[in-house]
Amino acid sequence: MQFQERLVSLLPGRMRNQVAEWFEAAELLGEMRDPKVLAAIGPAGVRGLLLHRGKQGVPSQMPASHTAHFDWTYPHDQAEMADLYRRAKEGQWDGDTLPWSVSVDPYDPEVPLIPEYFMDFDKLEGMGARLTSHEKLALRHSLCAWMLSQFLHGEQGALFAAAQVTEAVQFFDGKMYGSTQVMDEGRHVEVFNRYIDTKLNKLYQINDNLYVVIDSLMTDGRWDMKFLGMQIMVEGLALGAFGVLHKMTSEPLLKELLKNVIRDESRHVHYGVVALREHFRNHISERERREREDWAFEVALLMRNRFTAFEVYDEWFAHRLTRGQWRDLVMNSPGMAAFRDVMFRRMVPNLREIGLMSPRIVPHYERAGLMRYYDGAAADKLSAEQLLSDVS
Ligand SMILES: [Fe+2]
Ligand SMILES: [Fe+2]
Repeated sequence: MQFQERLVSLLPGRMRNQVAEWFEAAELLGEMRDPKVLAAIGPAGVRGLLLHRGKQGVPSQMPASHTAHFDWTYPHDQAEMADLYRRAKEGQWDGDTLPWSVSVDPYDPEVPLIPEYFMDFDKLEGMGARLTSHEKLALRHSLCAWMLSQFLHGEQGALFAAAQVTEAVQFFDGKMYGSTQVMDEGRHVEVFNRYIDTKLNKLYQINDNLYVVIDSLMTDGRWDMKFLGMQIMVEGLALGAFGVLHKMTSEPLLKELLKNVIRDESRHVHYGVVALREHFRNHISERERREREDWAFEVALLMRNRFTAFEVYDEWFAHRLTRGQWRDLVMNSPGMAAFRDVMFRRMVPNLREIGLMSPRIVPHYERAGLMRYYDGAAADKLSAEQLLSDVS
C-alpha cells in the first residue's frame, strides 16, 4: 500500500474521503510536468477539484475572453467547411419528432437501459458490497442517469464553445458552418434534458473532471484551444460514450435519440479536424504547436484515468468502499473499458491528423498504451454510418 493510502486509511470515515480527494487532485496537478500546461489547466483544476465549483448549487460564472473576428468581405475561403455547412442544413432534425410516447421503466429487466455486464457485480461483491437483484437494477439506473447527466453537462459546454468559436474563427465558411453547430448543440441539450427529466427522473451534478476541462477551455482566450478542447477532446469522449451506449442499450427511445445525436457529432469532429489541421500547419509557431501537443496529451490522460463516476460512488458506496476500490472497479468494468476503447479510437487518429502526434510525444502515448489507435481513420474520413457501426 502506498504511503498516501496508508495515511488516509488511518483517518475517520468522513475525513478519509475528503483527504483522499485532495491527494487525487494534488497527484493530478503534480503529474503535469510542462509549466505551460499546468498554467492552462491548473486554475481550472483548483476550481473544479478542490472548490467543487460545479457542485455548489448556484450558476457557475466563468469569465470568457476571446477576440471576435469580423470579415466584411464575406470570402468563400474554405470549400470543405462550405460543404459541411450545406450538409448540416440538410441534416437538421426536430427533437420533438423522437418517439417520446415510449414508456421507459428503468427497473424493467426485459428492456434494460444498460446491460448487466456493464458493471462487474461479482467483483463488487468480492469487495464486500452484495446487492439484491432489485438493487442491481437501481445501480444500473443510477449509472445510466450519471452518464446521460454528464452528456447533458458536456452539451451545455459544447453549445457555449460552439458559439464562442463561431465568433473567433478566422474562416468565413467556418462561421457559417459554426452557426449550424450552435443549433445542433442546442438541440442536444434539449433532447438529453428531456430524456433525463421525463424518463429517468434523476439528474447528477457535473463530474469534477469534466468541469475542469470545460472551465479550462471556456476561460482560455485562444480560440484554437477552445476548439481543440471541445471539438477533438470532449467530442471524442462524447462519441465514445454515445457509441457504446447506443450499442448497449435496449431502450428504443434512447437508441433513436443517440443515433440522431451521433450523426450531428460526426460533422462537428470533422469540422474540428479540418479547421485545426489548417490552423496548426499554417498559422502557429512550432513552440505553440508543442504546447498544444502537451495539453492534448494531458487532457487525454485526464479523461482516461479520472472519468470514474464518483458522484455515483458518493451516493451508493461512500461508507462501504474506499475511493481506490471504486476506481479499480469502474476502470475495469466491461462497459467503461468499451467506452474508453471507442473514445481513443476516435480521438487518437484525429490528434495525428491535426499534427499533434509528432515523434516527440509518441513515446508518451506508447507508455500510456494508446499507440494502438494511431493508424485508425480520422473524422474527415469517417461517415456517420461508419461511426454508428464501428463500435466493438
Ligand atoms: Fe453535441
Ligand atoms: Fe458537438
